[in-house]
Amino acid sequence: MSHQQPPANPANTPSQRFFAGIGITPGMRVLDVGCGNGDLSRFVAALAGPAGEVVAIDRGADSLAMARVADARPNSAPIDYRQVDLAEALPELGKFDAIVGRRVLMYLPDAAATIDRLRSIAKPGAIIAFQEHARAGLPTGLSELPLHRQLYDWTWSTVTAEGGEVTLALRLMDLLKTAGCAIEDARCEAILLQSGDPSFLPTLARAMLPRMIERGVTTAAELDPDTLADRIDQERRTVGGTIVWDLAFLVAARVG
Ligand SMILES: C[S@@+](CC[C@H](N)C(=O)[O-])C[C@H]1O[C@@H](n2cnc3c(N)ncnc32)[C@H](O)[C@@H]1O
Repeated sequence: MSHQQPPANPANTPSQRFFAGIGITPGMRVLDVGCGNGDLSRFVAALAGPAGEVVAIDRGADSLAMARVADARPNSAPIDYRQVDLAEALPELGKFDAIVGRRVLMYLPDAAATIDRLRSIAKPGAIIAFQEHARAGLPTGLSELPLHRQLYDWTWSTVTAEGGEVTLALRLMDLLKTAGCAIEDARCEAILLQSGDPSFLPTLARAMLPRMIERGVTTAAELDPDTLADRIDQERRTVGGTIVWDLAFLVAARVG
């Protein structure tokens, strides 16, 4: 039986470049909000170094359990994973030099209210930086991509059905400005799928299938996970070239 690693999520590709450049330095106290399995928490912990400290919060007990057993990066700050609901008042967490989050604000019922609460626990001059994604009429490629398009629509429709705001990324700069932050960096990077690389999409579809079914967006029979990887591969081979799959919006701001 093969134990091949599934392809890495290409939506995380811009994160390292971006979060490495927002100004996190050794010794800082950093908060990662909606940390999930802690991938970004571990990255910022390495930036903060052994003299720093990271608090990583999420409401999901299963994600936090995964995060707590993952291997730390070398020379990292210790990470304190805590179960916190960002839609509610925050528990006592202390003040932070930097607050980061990736793909989390779009899931919150009132992102502006959460940003205000986060700002109140940011030290003066602290950095606040987010990576969010938006539904943006993709994917696009050299010719029609009906299966890729279908998967894209199912994915974003599921987020909408769950109450997520799929265009929040387009309001991210305004939200941070309204919260009294000065924008230091704002950019958007395309997430590309290259022909010849193993596709991440079957992994994404399998991970999202229970949510898609729960929300009535599609059925297991319609998505047919057993043949999906082959059908995606075939569509890519037929179309060739690069597929623009998604957009990552990356905004860093400083608290006044
Ligand atoms: C798409 S995942 C991203 C995880 C992680 N930031 C990453 O990029 O790998 C979204 C995360 O936001 C968390 N989340 C959603 N709503 C939340 C809330 N109200 N309070 C805390 N966490 C929340 C989910 O539990 C999930 O772990």
